[in-house]
Amino acid sequence: MIFGAILAGGSGTRMHISSLPKQFLPLDDKPIIIHTVEKMLACSKFDKIFIGINPSWASYMNDLLGKYEIDEEAVVVVVGGENRNSTIFNIIEGIEEKFGVSDEHIIVTHDAVRPFVTLRIIEENIEAALKYGACDTVVPATDTIVVSQKNDIISDIPNRIYMYQGQTPQSFNINKLKELYGKLSEAQKAVLTDACNIFVMNSEKVKLVMGENSNIKITTVNDYKIAQYLAIGGTESD
Ligand code: CTP
Repeated sequence: MIFGAILAGGSGTRMHISSLPKQFLPLDDKPIIIHTVEKMLACSKFDKIFIGINPSWASYMNDLLGKYEIDEEAVVVVVGGENRNSTIFNIIEGIEEKFGVSDEHIIVTHDAVRPFVTLRIIEENIEAALKYGACDTVVPATDTIVVSQKNDIISDIPNRIYMYQGQTPQSFNINKLKELYGKLSEAQKAVLTDACNIFVMNSEKVKLVMGENSNIKITTVNDYKIAQYLAIGGTESD
């Protein structure tokens, strides 16, 4: 089965604009997270879409789903975790409680705060996760990436043609993701910021899916302003 996982357990501490977590801020005619839910719902391949939410905001989320007439059969709200990866694993627990454990289960994880994801990106994620077991959505890096590991001194400037910026969705075979996570040491788990790294640290292949420059993550007030512009039909190249 194929599951969507909308990661909405964060509180948006870098967005100093409102006491509302950023995923609930308005964008054009509705909250950011409702745009994201609708983009996921536009893909008919999902058996169910899970949303991971901080427990303090679960009833707020359920009210929004009602207000914007989201099909209640299509989505399930579960409790998010302390960090992004634990929200993913909480959603997996929710999936397995309702649908059992299976080698065939695929999860398409997506940041609630990337409301401009496209159907093409979602469908290519599903295809790649079914074929390769894991995939990441990326765009080629346009800026040169400078590595500095110590004292503000450059330690490396990798060749830009090999550099990409990670976006979401990131999609996985659920059993493979759990198995590989179980193989990581506590030290590896402690530095894990990205779910695809669970595969990379285990020397397992992660297929790249091309994202879009418009698939921005709303992190700061400036991103929010750009998102408001994109939502009314502007383009990121204007
Ligand atoms: N996320 C999550 N569970 C967490 C933390 C983050 O599901 N415990 C989600 C966020 O809700 C967001 C996505 O992961 O949709 C990307 O994370 P980020 O932009 O860092 O969101 P926040 O953690 O909310 O922001 P900040 O780091 O500024 O506090």
